[in-house]
Amino acid sequence: MEVVNTVSALKALVAPLKNAGKKIALVPTMGALHNGHISLIESALVLADTVICSIFVNPTQFTDPKDLERYPRPLQKDLNMLIGAGCNILFMPDVQEMYPEPEQWYIDLGETEFLLEGAFRKGHYQGVTQIVKKLFDAATPDVALFGQKDYQQVLMIRKMTATFNMPIEIVSCPIIRERDGLAMSSRNIHLSETDRKHALILSRALQYVQANFRKKPIAELLEHAQSFFRNVAGLELEYFTIADGETLQPVTDDAGANVVALVAARVGTTRLIDNMILS
Ligand code: PAJ
Repeated sequence: MEVVNTVSALKALVAPLKNAGKKIALVPTMGALHNGHISLIESALVLADTVICSIFVNPTQFTDPKDLERYPRPLQKDLNMLIGAGCNILFMPDVQEMYPEPEQWYIDLGETEFLLEGAFRKGHYQGVTQIVKKLFDAATPDVALFGQKDYQQVLMIRKMTATFNMPIEIVSCPIIRERDGLAMSSRNIHLSETDRKHALILSRALQYVQANFRKKPIAELLEHAQSFFRNVAGLELEYFTIADGETLQPVTDDAGANVVALVAARVGTTRLIDNMILS
């Protein structure tokens, strides 16, 4: 695996590959890799000739400075996992490389930007699309892979590529879970033993809704799912919604085909998100 730290070095590696007609895939990450990330690399290897992974803890998408500060950075482990997975190129720039000057531009992502994650993390998707655009410009991929784990993020990135007519296929990959159902996340290492038990409530509530969707009224599903979170010390529900898969607006009982349940909760000091597609 080649490791490069600058945009110019990455472009120098990619240009001859593109000239030779090779298909390039990009998997953007913030490191602290787990099997969810590795599944994206594995899918990328099936779809493309050369797979680039980026590791960059992007400061502009963090709304809580403490979250940025304590974001895990186990570099050697990440390198070993990427080599083991067969990744071809690792792009690992520093903050100065990606943001030589402060940048003040804004992408109109539509009103979906301000719902759910966007409501709890103001400006988050501006930061995400800002860095992903810069990574796309640097890596010039034909295809980029993202996890359904960050459901709204995939919608925002698709909106950006459509806005700019970017010739990049966006692929959404399934959520990889621990054996007991907890969605893998770089933040799970912050969970205490008690938190780890409480964290399971997110996937259990989603499973309940998935199993009973179209069998019970939406209001009843929501009420029961939300009750999983009540009176649990150290567990604080931020949202649990059953929403249209495109607009993320809450659905009613006559919902069409594209419906997703999404949840965010604080478990101890850690904020977790999860979702399940219902139809
Ligand atoms: P990060 O949280 O490191 O996630 C990188 C990619 O891995 C994202 O596309 C995310 O959805 C996916 N992913 C995370 N957990 C997963 C799981 N359990 N199963 C499958 N895929 C999973 O998302 C980001 O970084 C950043 O916002 C980024 C896009 C890199 C921009 O900075």
